[in-house]
Amino acid sequence: MSTSKTSANWEKAVKRLEGKVAIVTGASSGIGRAIALQFAAEGAKVVVADLHEGWNRGGFEETASATTVEEIERNGGAAFFVTCDVTSQQQVAALVDSAVEHFGTLDVIVNNAGIYRVGKLVHEFEEADLDACWNVNLKGTWFGCQEAIKVFLAKGAGTIVNIVSTAGLGGHPKQSVYNISKGAVSSLTKCIAIEYGRDGIRANGICPTYAKTSMTRGHFDDADYMKAFAESIPLKRWGEVADVANLAVFLASDESSYIHGALIPVDGGETLCRYSVEDE
Ligand SMILES: NC(=O)c1ccc[n+]([C@@H]2O[C@H](COP(=O)([O-])OP(=O)(O)OC[C@H]3O[C@@H](n4cnc5c(N)ncnc54)[C@H](O)[C@@H]3O)[C@@H](O)[C@H]2O)c1
Repeated sequence: MSTSKTSANWEKAVKRLEGKVAIVTGASSGIGRAIALQFAAEGAKVVVADLHEGWNRGGFEETASATTVEEIERNGGAAFFVTCDVTSQQQVAALVDSAVEHFGTLDVIVNNAGIYRVGKLVHEFEEADLDACWNVNLKGTWFGCQEAIKVFLAKGAGTIVNIVSTAGLGGHPKQSVYNISKGAVSSLTKCIAIEYGRDGIRANGICPTYAKTSMTRGHFDDADYMKAFAESIPLKRWGEVADVANLAVFLASDESSYIHGALIPVDGGETLCRYSVEDE
């Protein structure tokens, strides 16, 4: 079985994001926190944005003793926290302004903040579930892209990394409101790539399957579900936040300078098939 590489190696001599300024939304917890920490370890100055500075209870950060910014600063990196609800265009605009004011520029935005709704068929979901997923997942990403693009156009360069999901690549049962919001983010990522490539702005999407965060804790703690999921995919294990952060570093770095408009699964092969060769 393959294993995940640990992230945030602060000792590297050559830092892949040296000199870059990055915003990561939803960066207090889970995948966003892992991305922010790894960006900082690779030399980026990071603006950590979230609804609150403490991490989500119930996630896999229980052993952490520091906020994302504290952890970055403890390791000699540069970061600051901005309270931001990504469903508010005004707050997202203020977030982008604060990055430019504080660090002098903006090179990368990672639109990661997201919520999940699950467990109902289409006719059972409430309008409020649809609105919640749409507002955070799609409109939050839309506002992040819009506000960052204004800065990127002025400087003639910039990189957008949208955290999508395998849910943005196809259908899944009993999570339609989440899936359609992520499908819209996939489409948005491609539209941005088409419209702004000529301006030096790259946009790509990362499509994880289940990774261990507070969002998926309920599924992970359900031993039958946890095992059944792992067994249904070729690599036979759950994703780690580091698996997603590793790709985010690559997509934010100049190493990926010709990768544009891609929606890249980080899914242990899930999107290839959902059955085991042992079942044949
Ligand atoms: N964990 C997974 O298995 C998985 C799989 C595929 C995609 N994703 C996507 O990864 C992203 C991160 O999810 P996670 O698993 O780390 O979840 P998480 O709940 O651990 O973290 C999400 C973070 O986003 C923040 N957030 C929520 N709403 C916000 C808002 N309106 N404004 C600003 N911040 C807000 C939360 O406070 C939290 O810190 C989401 O977009 C999610 O859809 C997660």
